Amino acid sequence: MNVLLTGGCGFIGSNLVRLLLAERPGWRVVNLDKLTYAGNAENLAAVEGSSQYRFVRGDIGNGELVAEIFRTERIDVVMHLAAESHVDRSILAPAVFIDTNVRGTQVLLEAARQHGVKRFLHVSTDEVYGSLGPTGYFTETTPLDPSSPYSASKASSDLLALAYAHTFKLPVVVTRCSNNYGPYQFPEKLIPLMIANALRDLPLPVYGDGMNVRDWIHVEDHCRGLLAALEHGHDGEVYNFGASSERHNIDIVKQVLRHVGKPETLITYVKDRLGHDRRYAIDATKARTKLGWAPRHRFEDALGETVRWYREHRPWWERIISGEYLKYYETQYGRG
Ligand code: NAD
Ligand code: DAU
Repeated sequence: MNVLLTGGCGFIGSNLVRLLLAERPGWRVVNLDKLTYAGNAENLAAVEGSSQYRFVRGDIGNGELVAEIFRTERIDVVMHLAAESHVDRSILAPAVFIDTNVRGTQVLLEAARQHGVKRFLHVSTDEVYGSLGPTGYFTETTPLDPSSPYSASKASSDLLALAYAHTFKLPVVVTRCSNNYGPYQFPEKLIPLMIANALRDLPLPVYGDGMNVRDWIHVEDHCRGLLAALEHGHDGEVYNFGASSERHNIDIVKQVLRHVGKPETLITYVKDRLGHDRRYAIDATKARTKLGWAPRHRFEDALGETVRWYREHRPWWERIISGEYLKYYETQYGRG
């Protein structure tokens, strides 16, 4: 089986490439990644040189390049993860989110249609459903109501993917997952940002009142869900993934401080995110019953392991937080 995996140098993509190579030894994975600020070839240094793996540096929006990959690599299935993924950046500079997440997805869908594939797995997010009140859960039939330019671009790409399934009978499956955490997550996202700041005795910036709720899932559980959806999902269907681990942001930040062994005086409340969604929570019954999937990680244990990973991989994130990221950090949080 020849897999075209997009965004494989990012957080979830690099964890997924490692999982596929380990658990599907007969498969070949072609990773198409532009290496934006969020892509890091170092994340996959361990698999470079494997006959099962090829890295192509390029943009999913480059139709000629994408068509050539489909042709020369005889692609059977697509796992599409490449995206601009950070909500705060989509508030600062939305245009690239439309270019990559909407137009780039359409280029891939069109190439997959022309070439013919057995499966097009479109990896999406629970943010397309918008914000919940204090009760209730997102199911696959919850109406789309995205709030940010990021989530609006993802909702647009979901609709395009489902339109290709409906109109052209492209064998599309869409997955929508809650907030991931684990190794190799870029330190602009809540958990790795708080760990990296705590380890350096820097302020931990909590937006608004810190009472927003996110539903956390370990990245390996998400990746196993993606594999299950690829292999057992039904054409034109949507599957939600989540691990029933709702937490208030402030409680996560306090837990990180306890794991790192630093005082709560590092917590600094800062201006709220514009249009900040209050609560996400996933009902993953469909994935559990139809795909036979279940999360394996317990949040409290896996958060401790994640803190340990960042402690042990300090050079990895120290290299990242210099350069381009430093400019973004100063725009978002000030010079400190
Ligand atoms: P990430 O930002 O860590 O990685 C994105 C990757 O895509 C990077 O390697 C980047 O170089 C690449 N990329 C960006 N633009 C590209 C382009 N035009 N062409 C080719 N490659 C490009 O993102 P992530 O957190 O790993 O998320 C991966 C996917 O999963 C995204 O589609 C995201 O919407 C979705 N998702 C993420 C989460 C989460 O909690 N992180 C949850 C649910 C769904
Ligand atoms: O729900 C899935 C989504 O989760 C994915 O689709 C996105 O790609 C991913 O980035 C993530 O989006 P969030 O906006 O929920 O994640 P983030 O880590 O940016 O923020 C999590 C919560 O923490 C959110 O309520 C905002 C808050 N926050 C975040 C940062 C970066 C802070 O309080 N302070 C911060 O500095």
